[in-house]
Amino acid sequence: MLSWDEFDTEEETVAKPAAAKAAANAAPDKLDNAAEAAVHDARAVSADDSAAVARAKAALDQLDIAEGLAELEGEGARVTVDAKRMINCRADLNQLVPFKYDWAWQKYLDGCANHWMPQEVNMNADIALWKSQDGLTEDERRIVMRNLGFFSTADSLVANNLALAVYRLITNPECRQYILRQAFEEAIHTHAYQYCIESLGMDEGEIFNMYHEVPSVAKKAAWGLKYTRAISDPEFDTGTVETDKELLRNLIAYYCVLEGIFFYCGFTQILSMGRRNKMTGVAEQFQYILRDESMHLNFGIDVINQIKIENPHLWDAELKDEATQMILQGTQLEIEYARDTMPRGVLGMNAAMMEDYLKFIANRRLTQIGLKEEYPGTTNPFPWMSEIMDLKKEKNFFETRVTEYQTGGALAWD
Ligand SMILES: [Fe+2]
Ligand SMILES: [Fe+2]
Repeated sequence: MLSWDEFDTEEETVAKPAAAKAAANAAPDKLDNAAEAAVHDARAVSADDSAAVARAKAALDQLDIAEGLAELEGEGARVTVDAKRMINCRADLNQLVPFKYDWAWQKYLDGCANHWMPQEVNMNADIALWKSQDGLTEDERRIVMRNLGFFSTADSLVANNLALAVYRLITNPECRQYILRQAFEEAIHTHAYQYCIESLGMDEGEIFNMYHEVPSVAKKAAWGLKYTRAISDPEFDTGTVETDKELLRNLIAYYCVLEGIFFYCGFTQILSMGRRNKMTGVAEQFQYILRDESMHLNFGIDVINQIKIENPHLWDAELKDEATQMILQGTQLEIEYARDTMPRGVLGMNAAMMEDYLKFIANRRLTQIGLKEEYPGTTNPFPWMSEIMDLKKEKNFFETRVTEYQTGGALAWD
């Protein structure tokens, strides 16, 4: 427990410096001079100073403030809302307010309100079930293994893409604030998978290396990494039509496809297990993760749509076609992943049902960024998944202008 008592006591015994006393009684225009004099006195080398302290003070005499601040991104003036832009902004990026994108700040607050840690979830029932001889079928075990294999590295890919590529190119402080929160949540997700893998006593090397060894997992990772590579070069910068489009492709790849499609087969399978009272600890971890991911997805869609509004020339027929192709490719890879993870029917579902579900999700991703549905008439075979995430959680600024997201207490398996 922190206490301020000792600090109060100390403060009373410290004599006020003469310059500060004088400043307290001075007129405002004299205040700066008095403060300047106090700073000057503090910098003077005294007989008590060691050689190292004297050198440190002398070095500060050489500090060029203008040169130091010149390294900052953006212009050195007070920021107005009108000057703020999602990309290629010239306003100072260290001045968080005034907010332009209130939805981004709200998502940051909502993300913080949803904070959780993997160790809070009880894994005892899962450990007993996983170690028992006949607790799970081979098909169910395959689903747990494959999904921990995919997700244990997928969230690192997302985190790396944010930190190494996207963060510096999104030139808005409230969005950067959310991106930092998202990056931490991705670290928690990777932690959660590690915690599951360790709790269940799995072969860690086998699970974490699965994205090199299992084709259906490797293809999804390779597909996403291609888009990180395009913009993570330190020389890469936005500001031309082609590079601005490249950033948009990256955002579509990660938010709409990786977080918006590649997670959905696995989430559905593991949550289906939880609903059947199997691997409830793992399922609870996944449900917390899903709650975070729904917000990541919505944030990304809002960012993409805002960039389109501010830069309508980027969203031409060519890029619309590319974006559609990316979402269709992602859907196809996820359908292949569904077939690999469910060679037979299991947990009340099968690969054909999952294919319908993924097409339903793909339609949603397409329309969320203003593209037309490519699988018309597809219906959702897993309405309980919509109940958990599609309808309640997938609202974003451009659809509703309302954030329904609330801090969750206990999770329910209705
Ligand atoms: Fe994640
Ligand atoms: Fe995420």
